[in-house]
Amino acid sequence: MTAPLTGRPVISGTGLFTPPESITNEELVASFNAFVDRHNAEHAEAIASGTVEALSHSSVEFIEKASGIKARHVMSKAAILDPATMCPRLPERANDEISVMAEIGVAAARQALERAGRKPEDVDAVLCAASNMQRAYPAMAIEIQQALGIEGFGFDMNVACSSATFGIQTAADYVRAGNAKSVLVVSPEITSGHLNWRDRDSHFIFGDVATAVLVEDAGVAPAGHWEILGTRLKTVFSNNIRNNFGFLNRAAPEGEGAADKLFVQEGRKVFKEVVPMVAQMILDEADRLGLEPAMLRRLWLHQANAGMNRLIAHKVLGHEASDDESPTVLDTYGNTSSAGSIIAFHKHSDDLGAGDTGLICSFGAGYSAGTVFVRKVA
Ligand code: COA
Repeated sequence: MTAPLTGRPVISGTGLFTPPESITNEELVASFNAFVDRHNAEHAEAIASGTVEALSHSSVEFIEKASGIKARHVMSKAAILDPATMCPRLPERANDEISVMAEIGVAAARQALERAGRKPEDVDAVLCAASNMQRAYPAMAIEIQQALGIEGFGFDMNVACSSATFGIQTAADYVRAGNAKSVLVVSPEITSGHLNWRDRDSHFIFGDVATAVLVEDAGVAPAGHWEILGTRLKTVFSNNIRNNFGFLNRAAPEGEGAADKLFVQEGRKVFKEVVPMVAQMILDEADRLGLEPAMLRRLWLHQANAGMNRLIAHKVLGHEASDDESPTVLDTYGNTSSAGSIIAFHKHSDDLGAGDTGLICSFGAGYSAGTVFVRKVA
């Protein structure tokens, strides 16, 4: 890569790793209801005397209607569906083996490099941007960097569901500042590890996946890339999506009283508060960039809830968005945290033509939100 640098960031390739195993709503609910029946039978006396509350069944119809999710990919299906376990069981690996998060991140990264026609030696930096890291250190990004054979540097960043867009802006800023010409943003999201599969209100939400985005200087990017027109980030503190797990605070995931060491949320409040915040942010940023929102060809929105996306897309476009204007991957992937909008972009962008403008947008815990406006270049 000897072309002159421009300081203008583009997306020159994306990659996706999808775990082969998938759980349907029917399978999930059958396992959850077996757990409920077992729990209620074991605690029958205490339930009758009013000291323990009976648990209620989950329902396939509720899940699909409330969220739009029909299935989710996972890394450890059998253990999640076993009513006696109900969490992933991923065997610990020795220090000289690649860790599981790095492994799936590398798979996605390799595809992004291949699609951009790049070799690892072309890349200057790796950001591992995800809502949970497998360990404190060494950084996952450095392990991914090493596995790919990339020189330069890497570090981890966590902004929950907005990690990938925050990563893209960070990568774009390296390019803008001339500190790097090619940066990989890798988002391995093993969300099944922080989901409480025993919680009826949220057990259906998440799925596992890994994505990668290669952000490069326009001067070295391959043909058919996406110019990054502008990026904008926003955070507003909220306790409505929270996970208290941490190195000072670590109950075993399935232990008594461990629920707050897993994902917990006030789903209704999140829905009500985040929709207007994100819609306004998109409109403000479009205005700043001189873009007419109604002219956006496609919105690749965060994939948490079909209803949220319908409302946000309507506020932005001024009409009910078609599947073509606001594609969903929620039905088969569930909520994959920061990877969701990148999966949507990866799977639903090849058909757009030069000059088409679109928006990658994430939102979630923090609260946090990120926008990346892009335009296809021939
Ligand atoms: N099966 C059957 N019924 C269920 C159920 C389940 N799995 N879970 C909850 N219910 C019931 C509730 O008990 C409640 O019953 P009630 O009206 O008799 O009290 C009813 O369904 C509605 O529950 P509620 O939690 O208010 O549902 P909702 O319509 O808000 O949908 C979410 C829940 C989580 C799908 C929705 O709030 C959401 O997606 N919010 C945003 C989430 C988000 O983006 N989070 C970010 C994560 S990164």
